[in-house]
Amino acid sequence: MTKPAILVARAIFPETLARLAVHFELTTNDADQVWSKPELVERLRGKAGALTTGSERIDAEVVAASPGLRVVANMAVGYNNFDVDALTRAGVLATNTPDVLTETTADFGFALLMATARRITESERYLRRGEWNKWRYDMFTGPDVNGATLGILGMGRIGQAIARRGAHGFGMPVIYHNRSRLDAASEAACKARYVDKDTLFREADHVVLVLPYSASSHHAVGAAELALMKPTATLVNVARGGIVDDAALAQALREGRIAAAGLDVFEGEPQVHPDLLALKNVVLTPHIASASTPTRRAMAELAADNLIDFFTLGRARTPLNPQVLDRGGR
Ligand code: DGY
Repeated sequence: MTKPAILVARAIFPETLARLAVHFELTTNDADQVWSKPELVERLRGKAGALTTGSERIDAEVVAASPGLRVVANMAVGYNNFDVDALTRAGVLATNTPDVLTETTADFGFALLMATARRITESERYLRRGEWNKWRYDMFTGPDVNGATLGILGMGRIGQAIARRGAHGFGMPVIYHNRSRLDAASEAACKARYVDKDTLFREADHVVLVLPYSASSHHAVGAAELALMKPTATLVNVARGGIVDDAALAQALREGRIAAAGLDVFEGEPQVHPDLLALKNVVLTPHIASASTPTRRAMAELAADNLIDFFTLGRARTPLNPQVLDRGGR
């Protein structure tokens, strides 16, 4: 029997590729190039499935140009690179990788909060430049993390994991805003209090963004929200670029309207707004919140499992549009 043809759109762990190769005829991207849309469409020709990352946009045009495509497995929990409606209309199953990265991403969110508030990268750059010649009472002072109010915008799995770290590990009062309020047990587990969005920006000492990106969360944090924040407050984004208006943030940081920011994601990444690059009071990391080796392995394996289960069992572990399975797919 011929094996289904699968595109693995980016480099992944060789062990995962070897496992996929048992079930599928693989086309890989050994050079790990980020393909343009026409290049991606070209590679998808004749493929029944694809393993993608957040860098591959599977939009309505790509779906229409890929009539043999039956499943796309994203190696990411975020799936704003998928037009899920277009995939569903076409009967293409979409999957993502939730849960396996929750704790690792929360660790990183907290690390970025610590680095930002406690000025770790800024002071390290100072030391490396050879400028450190004496102890001084106010050298690299900044806000506290312990006991400060933690504000979380987007209280899904990762938001709750960050809240637990703050509440239980650092004695932080936690406030949050989310499309829907958590049930009482989940709020108690995070010791979190629900507030409206403006109150969150006004009251929090450290705001962490963990909401999914969509048209409705585009620039959810812009000049107006930044203006509500305390001048001593910090902002951390481990969610998606585009949630923050990066130009407005750079201006707020430059003018000292907030103390500092920690950003793992950017509008138009891997490009970074030049004004952010020029600032001292921002910690910049290259979209690595889920990048522990065990977690990246688990993400690759879950994406592979979704493809294998789809073709061997007619189901998937973490479907985004399970109605496609109920309808029997494409
Ligand atoms: C995710 O899983 O969504 C992370 O941002 C990695 O892309």
